[in-house]
Amino acid sequence: MEYKNILLSTEGEIGILTINRPKALNALNIETLQDIQMGIQEVKGNPALKVLILTGAGEKAFVAGADITEMRGMNSIEALNFSRLGHLTLKMIQDLDRPVIAAVNGFALGGGTEIAVACDFIYASENARFGVPEVTLGIFPGFGGTQRLPRLIGKGKAKELIFSGKMVSAQEAFQMGIVNRVFPLASLMEETKKAAAQIAGNGAIGVRLAKMVIDAGFNLDLTEACSLESYAFSVGFTTEDQREGMTAFIEKRKPNFKGK
Ligand code: CAA
Repeated sequence: MEYKNILLSTEGEIGILTINRPKALNALNIETLQDIQMGIQEVKGNPALKVLILTGAGEKAFVAGADITEMRGMNSIEALNFSRLGHLTLKMIQDLDRPVIAAVNGFALGGGTEIAVACDFIYASENARFGVPEVTLGIFPGFGGTQRLPRLIGKGKAKELIFSGKMVSAQEAFQMGIVNRVFPLASLMEETKKAAAQIAGNGAIGVRLAKMVIDAGFNLDLTEACSLESYAFSVGFTTEDQREGMTAFIEKRKPNFKGK
């Protein structure tokens, strides 16, 4: 399918969704959020894809935030709808039944940090900059920044970023626990694809169940969460992949997983 503001490509079992509005540093306007939703639906409908990489077009920005030009004239009802559209889009990324890796290749500000944090984990290039500068515009984060960021890095660090509106480097974001790994820009995509391929080579159902249990269990108390894990663990034993994985181990060969 052709999109106006994103590119969706595939490389074997890996999907790559590129936010593509380089003239506005890939800022998220309504149309782009709608395109991302349709792109996620397309990935959902393609079981051959095992992992999705989310990145930004060009070498300067991942996403420089929600589109300020579009937001400037909004009234409060339009802002509510815009925030809800952003939330729905980010939830579709978070809930995709496959891992989503953010490859942050430059500025990830406001909605840019928020969309990256909605992914399962983040790899960043050395030139990446993170931040939630909404207070410098007289507003505050509206695509989950006040909620996902504290859950990821703790309330104190999230409040420091949100109240100050300051930008941090990829290295600082790594130290804060926003970013898992930092690479030179030239090798970011290659390294992200390597990580995606490693995940794609594993039993797909096991990976999906793990994502579901980690996310669903995160806000439960430990006893309920461990109980959820046990039930999901037992579901793994209804699959051909479980037999294949364990048989391959015993036969000292590589497993041939089918995702069934
Ligand atoms: N919305 C709309 N357009 C944007 C944009 C945004 N968030 N960020 C950059 N652009 C546009 C600029 O207006 C500029 O367009 P023109 O060439 O037509 O003038 C173009 O992209 C290039 O940007 P700059 O000239 O500003 O580039 P720079 O290198 O000087 O600065 C930057 C780069 C530091 C990222 C700067 O562009 C910037 O500060 N952008 C805004 C960052 C921001 O405040 N993001 C938060 C948005 S609010 C939000 O996200 C709310 C929410 O939670 C939902």
